[in-house]
Amino acid sequence: MSSQPIRASLDKRPDEVATMFDDVASRYDLMNDLMTLGQTPRWRRIVFDAVGAVPGQRVLDLAAGTGTSSEPYADAGIDVVACDFSLGMLKVGKRRRPDIDFVAGDAMNLPFADDSFDAVTISYGLRNVNDPKKALAEMLRVTKPGGRVVVAEFSRPTNRLFRQVYLEYIMRWFPVLAAKASSNPDAYTYLAESIRAWPDQNELAHWLQGAGWSEVKYRNINGGIVAVHRGVKPAPADGADAR
Ligand SMILES: C[S@@+](CC[C@H](N)C(=O)[O-])C[C@H]1O[C@@H](n2cnc3c(N)ncnc32)[C@H](O)[C@@H]1O
Repeated sequence: MSSQPIRASLDKRPDEVATMFDDVASRYDLMNDLMTLGQTPRWRRIVFDAVGAVPGQRVLDLAAGTGTSSEPYADAGIDVVACDFSLGMLKVGKRRRPDIDFVAGDAMNLPFADDSFDAVTISYGLRNVNDPKKALAEMLRVTKPGGRVVVAEFSRPTNRLFRQVYLEYIMRWFPVLAAKASSNPDAYTYLAESIRAWPDQNELAHWLQGAGWSEVKYRNINGGIVAVHRGVKPAPADGADAR
């Protein structure tokens, strides 16, 4: 853990991002609930339903942090791997949920074999990855043909007036709330800036398609504060190399 609080810059250098999350790990879940005004359990349920996994299937929860996004799968008896590159977040997660399989790994170079998961999901993590398109391609590589991807990420409210109010809320109030409750308030200025700079729903859908995902669709939640994107890994064409 660093002695000086770290706030990652918007170029998202992996070492800065990992250190920043190490720094906020101990109060991460509390801050999440505070800043989303208690919406996270509902958002997680929507993601779980979109993944549609059943016992016997293997799910990768990427950028899993403290594993809160992995819990619904473990609770449903689904084999879930919680992967993240912040050792601080993983440590808090393992302490809280020793039954979950936590793995240290970088989304841009996943430590898993090709075609090894029935579904891959990432909640509020892709925005923090230095090269999100590379991560989407890695997610495709480790998913079995016919398997699913589900990406939950902060997005762009569709109503212009609501969007203005919301941006005002995150830019002005995230840092104020964080100053009261977080171990690293600066990290929440990064959070607000990174949400504002993130592509909208349609552009993210194009990124998924560009990485090779098919049947890409998305659903807005809370007027587009969050969007949940889905896709399917195409099965190899008849006669093609099975890889
Ligand atoms: C906002 S947290 C989300 C945690 C969890 N998925 C949730 O919904 O609460 C974002 C996570 O992304 C992780 N992360 C960012 N870039 C990463 C990368 N390249 N590889 C793995 N994890 C990464 C951070 O370490 C952090 O734990």
